[in-house]
Amino acid sequence: MTANPYLPMPMRVEKVTVENEARDLKTFDLSFCQESDRTGFVYTPGQFAFLSIPGVGEAPFGIASAPHEPVVRYTVKRVGSVTTALHELEPGAIIGMRGPLGNSYPLDIAKGKDLVIVSGGFSFTTLRSTIAHLLRPEIRPSYGKITCIYGARTAGELLYKDEIRNWEKSPDISLHLCVDRLGNDTWPKTEGLVPNVLKQVAPSAENAIALVCGPPIMLKFTHPVLAALGFRPEQVFLSLENRMKCGIGKCGRCNIGPKYVCRDGPVFSYQELLTLPPDY
Ligand SMILES: Cc1cc2nc3c(=O)[nH]c(=O)nc-3n(C[C@H](O)[C@H](O)[C@H](O)COP(=O)(O)OP(=O)(O)OC[C@H]3O[C@@H](n4cnc5c(N)ncnc54)[C@H](O)[C@@H]3O)c2cc1C
Ligand code: FES
Repeated sequence: MTANPYLPMPMRVEKVTVENEARDLKTFDLSFCQESDRTGFVYTPGQFAFLSIPGVGEAPFGIASAPHEPVVRYTVKRVGSVTTALHELEPGAIIGMRGPLGNSYPLDIAKGKDLVIVSGGFSFTTLRSTIAHLLRPEIRPSYGKITCIYGARTAGELLYKDEIRNWEKSPDISLHLCVDRLGNDTWPKTEGLVPNVLKQVAPSAENAIALVCGPPIMLKFTHPVLAALGFRPEQVFLSLENRMKCGIGKCGRCNIGPKYVCRDGPVFSYQELLTLPPDY
């Protein structure tokens, strides 16, 4: 991060990928305009950063790339002013980025353990970063079995389709894709909601850590399933997406009781969340 945490770094849009049939999800691959910014931007899976467009504003987004990858990637859903302005960008455009911010998934304490990754909708971004990191040949042996349950409304809404097709063939990860409804999909997947598919897959909780990211309704129904499978609150980690302004623990926009999602999170253990007011 730059010495002034409010000062964005200039970034060049290298590639824009439309992710879904509704065309309201786009992935942006960004490169650094300044070499000193590139070397100073050190991040770990689970962190986020703010993207800014001059004259429009800025908003936080989870980093979807893994630290070893040559570009910094974000997948953005078009919902309001900043995201609409981002969606209008073409390769070559210059935008601002400030970060990395927040904490990351607990990959250090997960070493030697199995990982259960559960995600729904476009929140899959930071878990995509996590999987891409874990599947590096020099990293993968440090972890046990990796099971991932990832769901979307329809097959057309699943992100990073080419990459997950490769993961489906990989012996290094057991991937379970599901969609709310199959429709005319040609790509074979399970029909069902993420918590139900998690129940069917039933990964063992023994010596395992669960990483969960998704919309609030998915988080609400996923935790009882994990608990029934034997996951204790300290084995479950969730990433939250509270509204934010400063991103560095100054403005009080994102807090849950005494904790700031931007500074103390966005990743919290379920055990930690049990001590906080249910404002998430
Ligand atoms: C840590 C973190 C990571 C995020 N990662 C991503 C990501 O990878 N991709 C992505 O597309 N978005 C992500 N978001 C959400 C994104 O920051 C917001 O949607 C942002 O408000 C969009 O800015 P905007 O100006 O386009 O929309 P706005 O004009 O701010 O909002 C448009 C609409 O969305 C609603 N809204 C905005 N933010 C939220 C929220 N957090 N919860 C519920 N409703 C909201 C507003 O009330 C409004 O109705 C993340 C948020 C956080 C805090
Ligand atoms: S966004 Fe300002 S304190 Fe978290």
